[in-house]
Amino acid sequence: MTAEKIKEIVSQMTLEEKASMCSGADFWHTEAVERLGIPASMVSDGPHGLRKQDQEGDHLGVNDSIKAVCFPAGCGTAASFNRELIRQMGETLGEECQAEGVSVILGPAVNIKRSPLCGRNFEYYSEDPLVASEMAGALIHGVQSKNVGTSIKHFLGNNQETRRMTSDSQIGQRSLHEIYLAAFEGAVKKEKPWTVMCSYNKINGTYAAENHKYLTEVLRDEWGFEGYVMSDWGAVNSRVKDLQAGLDLEMPSSNGFNDKLIVGAVQSGELPEKVLDAAVSRILNIVFRYEENRDKNAVFDRDKDHEMARKVAQETIVLLKNDGVLPLSEQDEIVFIGKYAKTPRYQGGGSSHINSHKVTSALDAVADMANVTYAQGFDDKVDKTDEKLLAEAVEAAKKAKFAVVFAGLPDAFESEGFDRKHMRMPDCQNELISKVAAVQPNTIVVLHNGSPVEMPWVNEVKGVVEAYLSGQAVGGAVCDILFGKVNPSAKLPESFPLKLEDNPSYLFYPGEKDKVEYREGIFVGYRYYDSKKMEVLFPFGHGLSYTTFAYSNLTVDKETMKDTDVMNVSVDVTNTGNMTGKEIVQLYVADQESTVIRPVKELKGFEKVELAPGETKTVTFALDKRAFAYYSVKLQDWHVETGAFDIMIGRSSRDIVLTKAVTVESTVKIPFVYTTDTAMGDVLKDPRAREIVEELLKFDIFGGVQDKAESSAANEAITAEMNAAMAEFAPLRSAVSFGGNMNMADVQEIVDRLNALEEG
Ligand code: BGC
Repeated sequence: MTAEKIKEIVSQMTLEEKASMCSGADFWHTEAVERLGIPASMVSDGPHGLRKQDQEGDHLGVNDSIKAVCFPAGCGTAASFNRELIRQMGETLGEECQAEGVSVILGPAVNIKRSPLCGRNFEYYSEDPLVASEMAGALIHGVQSKNVGTSIKHFLGNNQETRRMTSDSQIGQRSLHEIYLAAFEGAVKKEKPWTVMCSYNKINGTYAAENHKYLTEVLRDEWGFEGYVMSDWGAVNSRVKDLQAGLDLEMPSSNGFNDKLIVGAVQSGELPEKVLDAAVSRILNIVFRYEENRDKNAVFDRDKDHEMARKVAQETIVLLKNDGVLPLSEQDEIVFIGKYAKTPRYQGGGSSHINSHKVTSALDAVADMANVTYAQGFDDKVDKTDEKLLAEAVEAAKKAKFAVVFAGLPDAFESEGFDRKHMRMPDCQNELISKVAAVQPNTIVVLHNGSPVEMPWVNEVKGVVEAYLSGQAVGGAVCDILFGKVNPSAKLPESFPLKLEDNPSYLFYPGEKDKVEYREGIFVGYRYYDSKKMEVLFPFGHGLSYTTFAYSNLTVDKETMKDTDVMNVSVDVTNTGNMTGKEIVQLYVADQESTVIRPVKELKGFEKVELAPGETKTVTFALDKRAFAYYSVKLQDWHVETGAFDIMIGRSSRDIVLTKAVTVESTVKIPFVYTTDTAMGDVLKDPRAREIVEELLKFDIFGGVQDKAESSAANEAITAEMNAAMAEFAPLRSAVSFGGNMNMADVQEIVDRLNALEEG
């Protein structure tokens, strides 16, 4: 619908009607205004399947929703690093929404995995903002290509479940821009989601729902977002303020209560009516965009979509370790051990919970293989070893040639609504794995979990397969990998630390009451582990294949560029093994030298390529300013420091295979303001300044003492190094205390001359 037409409709609406458009009619619908032909519009969770509730609505999946298809959760889809595949998954979801009359699916969820403990990590993509925003972008693209909206969430700084409705995420400006905003930024700018969902929490003291800075200045003014912002369910606490900040739609219904506040605020003059009109226009724009593009032929073909879910799952399962045991042969004597072989844990609890129309377990997938036996091994209702189940499993493991243990986290260990208390798997499962491995040298562990776990048994087993929460087709997909029908091609979109205490947020997570200080700053995930050179269990970007890949010919189209330019990088990848496979090529950038604190490397590009045995493909990347920049709080903008950078191509963040140095020249100078506190070393960085401070350089404190020190061998503690360091860091005002005949006004005069130099 054209902007003019929407304007016309809004002009015909009463104040009360407009206010009522700004909150839900019920749990899942926007208001209808029949007399003006405005239909109610339905939204549904998301993000990895349709949770459409026909009956009474709730937001934590307690009440049933329609039978639908559960796709792999975000933890897994990110591991695919496959934009095209996730775009296809989005198309499937979009078609389902069209068939079911859902205008907006509530996802993707891109919050950064700050700590392995976040109960909702299974829904989120990555510890890295580029991965999160690219994968989200792919999903948005797919869904919206079917004329159905998405709601990228939860904006902003919602990285824990503990006290999520009241906690205050205290995040520095650099970390906000480089990590937390960046997870949304690329997807919002490139793929233009129809809606954004704001989070419950506060950001630096202001609720996300009433945060003008992020909802309007950043989202709309800087990033060009044109859709509507809706609240997370119940995130509104001050309706009029929220509207002014840029929050258009309150969900769910406020039962008319907040509508009255809006009406009252307009009548009293507190709220300009044009603010309300703008919010209503944005909502109507989306409502009509959906209505006018209904696909009457869309069908929700659950069986077909199950196959899509399996196709996605095949690329979300990460082969973490393989000491020559995988792939298995279909003729081998194999025992599947563990409850999750029969009833897999394939999704998480909460608002994303799907009422799956069917679930394929690993046992279902091998139903016609007589050589595969099963032992339950453990129960996941309580963390207690069942001695009988354990003994049966160990016996079965002894008899077989291979044991595959299907383990992981029970629902009670991770879910929306609460955070994990630790990073361990249930003790009873760890014990089972160790006891099976003790009698069966060919033990493989398949994990079902949404977030990293400690693996005390990792050196006792020959294979580890991270299945994540891979949706309702997980069993078939896992067996495709185990038996080599599909070559594993996923990699970790997050680091697996050895233990929880290694995680950079460990000391500050989940904060003190409602105060959550993000003290680790920009050092999230591998940015921390790699900078600290810490041993990890499995690094970011790690994942094995049944074939091998070789890298060569790292080339750049220019070795030096201005920060306004684009550098094209290419690298050849060859499949050097015997099986067709897909490789995820990762490009990291490292600043060789920097005056600001930066991680040792950051991911700036990734591409997934499929290669037949012997085949070589050239993978290309385009690097612009952002690939080299940090966020300058002083400039309130991205900034590149002139100098050398390493471009690194890696199989993971810890397996860099090729490196090339390039130079980037900044076109922006950060203005420098001299004060009496400016250190002499900083002054001398500008050769033009030397003349102005020439006099001062004769003072002992600024280095004049050196000659004396050299001649006076009596005091060996005074070295040239010490004097040089003292001189470098001495502020100009030291001239008053240590220089002799100089007062503060004299120093200020020098400062003024230096500043005149800057301006000139
Ligand atoms: C969740 C959202 C979800 C909404 C509606 C909230 O509790 O945080 O992700 O979309 O409920 O179910």
